[in-house]
Amino acid sequence: MFKINDNYLKLPGSYLFSTIGKKVNAYAAANPDRKIIRLGIGDVTQPLPAAVVEALHKAVDEMGDAASFRGYAPDLGYEFLRKAIAEKDFAARGCEIDADEIFISDGAKSDSANIQEIFGPDNRIAVCDPVYPVYVDSNVMAGRCGNYDEKTQRWSDVIYMPCTAENDFVPELPQQRPDLIYLCFPNNPTGAAVTKEQLQRWVDYANEQGAVILFDAAYEAYISEKDIPHSIYECEGARTCAIELRSFSKNAGFTGLRLSYTVIPKALEAGGTSLHALWARRHGTKYNGAPYIVQRAGEAVYAPRGQEQIREMVNRYMKNAHYIRDGLKDAGYEASGGINSPYIWMKAPDGMTSWEFFDFLLERANVVGTPGSGFGPSGEGYFRLTAFGTYENTAEAMERIRRI
Ligand code: MLT
Repeated sequence: MFKINDNYLKLPGSYLFSTIGKKVNAYAAANPDRKIIRLGIGDVTQPLPAAVVEALHKAVDEMGDAASFRGYAPDLGYEFLRKAIAEKDFAARGCEIDADEIFISDGAKSDSANIQEIFGPDNRIAVCDPVYPVYVDSNVMAGRCGNYDEKTQRWSDVIYMPCTAENDFVPELPQQRPDLIYLCFPNNPTGAAVTKEQLQRWVDYANEQGAVILFDAAYEAYISEKDIPHSIYECEGARTCAIELRSFSKNAGFTGLRLSYTVIPKALEAGGTSLHALWARRHGTKYNGAPYIVQRAGEAVYAPRGQEQIREMVNRYMKNAHYIRDGLKDAGYEASGGINSPYIWMKAPDGMTSWEFFDFLLERANVVGTPGSGFGPSGEGYFRLTAFGTYENTAEAMERIRRI
């Protein structure tokens, strides 16, 4: 008789955003006259930049012509895109990253879930708490997290690094020794950012401990303050301890198009084995590459017009972020984030739990957010709002929140 991977049975019934989606759809079906404003999942609402649309059209035409048609993409991505990334995202910021160290993929969600496959089953993971659920869930599926304790809402073999108002939502170095450290800055869900000095401490720690940092920089485009690093490779020594994940979803509106990349420096080794070689082997075996037309769209993001247009897009979302953050503060709520990030992290009022506030806001204001407890135990009592809505909806949502 076949056997299933019973690690899956340890997981909660559905993924956080699917649970929210089902709840909201049920409410909408029961209340068809209400206009629900969704500021829950971080999905973009602005259309693709014109430079990207033009690149897509052009690439589609190429695919329709025998002379310029392309079949399978190179495993690790087209050279034109990897070169543009190496130059604009890294060399321009003084980081030593070669095009060969960049792996093109179809999403930071899949890369952040799959990257654990190149590590052995006994590695101990450390995560921020609250945290993007994909990091923990994918390790649970791989049997790396032990057992779940309903009472503490923690996995027995995971090292949790609380991010609370007391530490400005920036984790302390852990007491126990981790092997794999997941960091996401600017942070999802709290919107907190770390300075270069703070990040350098993590890089030094990882090198000392022989740990790897899996650095999720999906929200890098939202950084507005000067001393915040855009890449972990701005820190000295990161080439020997860090993998970085980047996305085109939030900076260029590719959530429906799918494109991302992962950087693994060749200097990153364990006992003489290069992680770059392992990921290349995994990529080559399990993945046939992001579509040519999408990689051309990604290339357009790096051209001067593309850069200008995505900056405009990010600024629009940041206008929403400031509107939400200031509006909440004016209404007497405790709120943070929204300065280097499109997420605003607020405290639920009157001692409500995160899910109580979710229901309250859905029923009384018809506004959807994300309950903080869905991201981990230290998220209990908090709530996340995203700036990715339209300005009109964001303004209306804030007006409704103010009224209740
Ligand atoms: C979020 O809302 O946390 C993100 O949109 C999820 C994702 O990027 O997968």
